[in-house]
Order: sequence, then C-alpha cells, then structure tokens
Amino acid sequence: MNHINPTTTQAWSKLQQLADANKDTHIKNLFADSSRFEKFSIKLEDILVDFSKNRFDDNIFSELLELAKETGLKKAIEAMYLGEKINGTEGRAVLHTALRNRSNSPVYFEGKDVMPDINDVLAQMKGFADQISSGKWLGYTGKPIKSLVNIGIGGSDLGPVMVTEALKPYQNPDLEIFFVSNVDGTHIAETLKKVDAETTLFFIASKTFTTQETMTNAHSARNWFLEHAKAESAVAKHFVALSTNAKAVTEFGIDPQNMFAFWDWVGGRYSLWSAIGLPIACAIGFDNFEKLLAGAHSMDLHFRNTDFDKNIPVILALIGLWNTNFLGATSEAILPYDQYMHRFAAYFQQGNMESNGKYVTRDGQKVNYSTGPVIWGEPGTNGQHAFYQLIHQGTHLIPCDFIAPAISHNPISDHHVKLLSNFFAQTEALMNGKTLEEVTAEMTKAGKPEAEIAKIAPHRVFEGNRPTNSILVKQLTPYTLGQLVAMYEHKIFVQGVIWNIYSFDQWGVELGKVLANAILLELVNENKVSSHDASTNGLINAYKEMRG
Ligand code: F6P
Repeated sequence: MNHINPTTTQAWSKLQQLADANKDTHIKNLFADSSRFEKFSIKLEDILVDFSKNRFDDNIFSELLELAKETGLKKAIEAMYLGEKINGTEGRAVLHTALRNRSNSPVYFEGKDVMPDINDVLAQMKGFADQISSGKWLGYTGKPIKSLVNIGIGGSDLGPVMVTEALKPYQNPDLEIFFVSNVDGTHIAETLKKVDAETTLFFIASKTFTTQETMTNAHSARNWFLEHAKAESAVAKHFVALSTNAKAVTEFGIDPQNMFAFWDWVGGRYSLWSAIGLPIACAIGFDNFEKLLAGAHSMDLHFRNTDFDKNIPVILALIGLWNTNFLGATSEAILPYDQYMHRFAAYFQQGNMESNGKYVTRDGQKVNYSTGPVIWGEPGTNGQHAFYQLIHQGTHLIPCDFIAPAISHNPISDHHVKLLSNFFAQTEALMNGKTLEEVTAEMTKAGKPEAEIAKIAPHRVFEGNRPTNSILVKQLTPYTLGQLVAMYEHKIFVQGVIWNIYSFDQWGVELGKVLANAILLELVNENKVSSHDASTNGLINAYKEMRG
C-alpha cells in the first residue's frame, strides 16, 4: 500500500481547480450532452448503476480516475486479493473475497492456500444447515428446531440481520429467526418470551468470543435454557459457536464439534460470508447462501478485472470522494425502495463508518482533508415523508443512493409501480428542482392572487442540483444482494486507499469499552465516586441514588 497524501497529487490540485471552475454547474445542464446516460451508467448482469445525475463532467471524471491511479489503487486492490497484510495496525490480511471465491482458485496467505480451510467450514455449515432446515436436528426432547436465535453484536449481528430481512421471501417457513445484540437485558428478555427452549437453537456469534455484550447475553441464554432443560448435556443440542477463538468457545461450554471457525483475516464487518453467515444459511437454505456468495464473487471479479472507467465500485467511490472532498458533503444517504432492505443502511453504517471514520493517515499523521461521511438512510417511500424535506431544500448537500428492484416479491395490485414512480420521481426532482418562474407560472395558472404568489412562491422553489446514484436491480435475490453488498464493500475499500487511511481496524471503539469496564467495577457497590471529572462523578452518584 502506498502512503500518499492525496492532496499532494496532481490530480487533486486539478480537481480543486475544476471544482472552483464548475461551482455554478447545474446537473440538469450537463444533460445537454445527449450521450451522458450511456456514458455514465453501467450494467453488470441484472444490475444497472446510473451515476449520471452527479455534478461532474468528462474532465472531472477523468481527473478522478487519475487520482485513483496516482494513489496506487490498482496495486492496493491486488494487495488485498493476494492476502498481503494491508490491515497495517493489526498486521492482518483482508481476505473476505476468498470466503466467496466460487472459482476456488488458490488464495495464498503466508504461503498457504486458504481455500481448503474455507471449503471445509462451508461443508460443515452445509451439513448443519441441511439438518436444521430438514428438521433432522433434534432438540433435547426430540423435537425439531423451530427458532433460531443469533446472539452477537456489530459485524456478528448486522450482516445476518440485514441479509435475513432482505431475503425473507426465501426463508424456510418452518423456522423463525431472532437477533439479540444489545446488552440491555430487555433485548434478550423479550426474545426469550417468544421461544421455547425445546425447539430453540442459539448461535453465539463473536469473532473474539470476548465481547461484553455477546458474552453477557450468551450466559443469560444458557442460564435460561438450563432452567428448562435441567441437564448440561442438553446444551450441545441447542448452542453453537461462530468464532475464531476455539479456546474461549470451549471454556464457555460449547462442544468444539459445534464450533464453526473463521480466521483473523476476516474483519468483523466483512464476516457475513464466513461462519458468521450460518444463521443465514439455516434460515434461507444453504443453496441460497451459496448464491449470495456467488453474487459477491461476481462483483469481486468485476472489481478486480475491470478498467477503472467501467468499474462500478471504483466509480461510486470516486464520486463519493468528489462529493465529500470537493463539494463539501459530510453525509451520504442510502435509500432502498424495497421494504425488505430496511436494515441495509444500518448495515453500511457500520461497514462504512467503522472502516473510514478515521483521522489518522497510514503514516500516523492527522489528515488535512475529510474522510468517511456519515451514512444513514431508511427505505422509500417512508423516508419521503420524514427527512427528504431536508435533502430537497435544506442547507446541507446530501448525496443519495437510490436502490430499487424492478420486480417485486409481492406484486399486489399497483403497489410496485407506485413505489417505482416515487423512486424515479425523487432523483429527477432532486436534480431538476423547480425555478421561481416555474412556481409563479403554476400558481398563476391555478388562479392564485399576486400577493399570495409573491409570499409563497419562494418557499416552493427547489434549487435542485442534488447528486444521486440510481441502482436498479432486476429482482432482489440472494445473488443480486451478494453483488450489492460486495459493491459497497469495495467502494469503501477504494475510498480508504485514496484517503490514505487503514480501513480494516477500529481502534476508535476501544476507549469507550475500556472506560465502561472500569466504571462497571464502581457501579457494583454503593460508595460515592470521585475518580472522574465532575460531570461523570455527578451522573454516577445520581444514578446510585436513583436506583436506591
Ligand atoms: O465494536 C467493535 C467490534 O469489534 C466490531 O468491529 C465487531 O464487528 C464487533 O465489535 C463484534 O465483535 P466480535 O465479533 O468479536 O464479538
């Protein structure tokens, strides 16, 4: 990996000049170029990505591509696929692409092909998932499993939640799936009310098997289970572990035979493709899990082998970077027009913000430019009636990704065309806006008095010029979902490379964890605390008084 401050490149200086020269450019005027849509949209199998509704022209586009070249992107991509230790602060490789390497070509890490180990765990997952979905895996009283409960947090939760929700149409109707992540006892308590110990399987999902929230929930689940089953020997039928830490799994009391392994070169937020995906494979069937992997693999091949000017993740990354570093955007919205994708933005909140929310460069210096934006979003059309007002007329520039399937899994009357009409209308409105002249003409035609027009018209003006990407998918299937997830993963990677930061560590979440552990010791007695700042002392002492 290069250590290049992107602002020192020639491309960055030129982009800065182009940004200044084009500050009055309106996206709608860029469509004077009749080939713009053909030029700035890409079809990959059943996915069409249209990035033409952004504030850039040919010159800016080619300078963005130059920036990717100057910062050594090609070399960095190869370094990732070749198992080099590109996670520099933890000395780890980054090989989630190997987990979904359906071509099964060798992938070497420290001279050893990792594919045989990956295939072994996949075979173990298949065997287990088949037993669960066929009803052959029996609980301690001889009944088949009906409820799957995943206990994990962050990357050991969000991926399986997001995917099982997105692929609900593929879910085995004999199984229900639940997710417990929060250490707030409410989460596990409310979940356990819905399940029966005799027919419940718990997945304890934790890469490290030390995460406070997960271990606390796992112990509570185990205690609850033993209250019903009475015998320790029953645990083996109802608890499995998904982890890299065999020692801690055994200490917890889970039979090593019921452990599904992965490796430290799988980042938590990139782990749904590993054993962490076992609840997905159980819920939607192993065949569908394989299709998810295959979709991601197709995007991996596209990303690795396609020239940058036709490379979807590279282009999405460069546009995001343009919006962030040259147009001043500080957040990005992900807006799926698909109710099944309602956790997609939440998933990439972790994926993106834990990866690129960093102000320290690969050289250990403080950056002098913006890095990862705030990621947020909700499905359309709900968002339209909540926060789109600000996207259309607020003072912040919010670039948006609109995602929609052409074919619905629920083709009820005219729901889907109505949904899609909104999808198309929003990006058009965000781009075109509405001028004062248009508003005035409209109000005049509607017979409004002049005084009212003068007063109200300014509020009805939309500047437009809001950048959007539109991602149209034939249908949301395991395969296309795999493609979409891999597309965003690689976008995040590209941005991290160019921003000269390490995208695969997460030191920023450590400090809070350490302090919480220290404070925990102070909360278990009634003594007044004085070891903190006045505010923290005051809050802790007030809490102790309140709880009585
Ligand atoms: O909070 C940070 C984090 O390390 C995430 O990166 C990770 O996905 C999550 O905690 C859970 O970690 P684990 O799988 O080790 O329990």
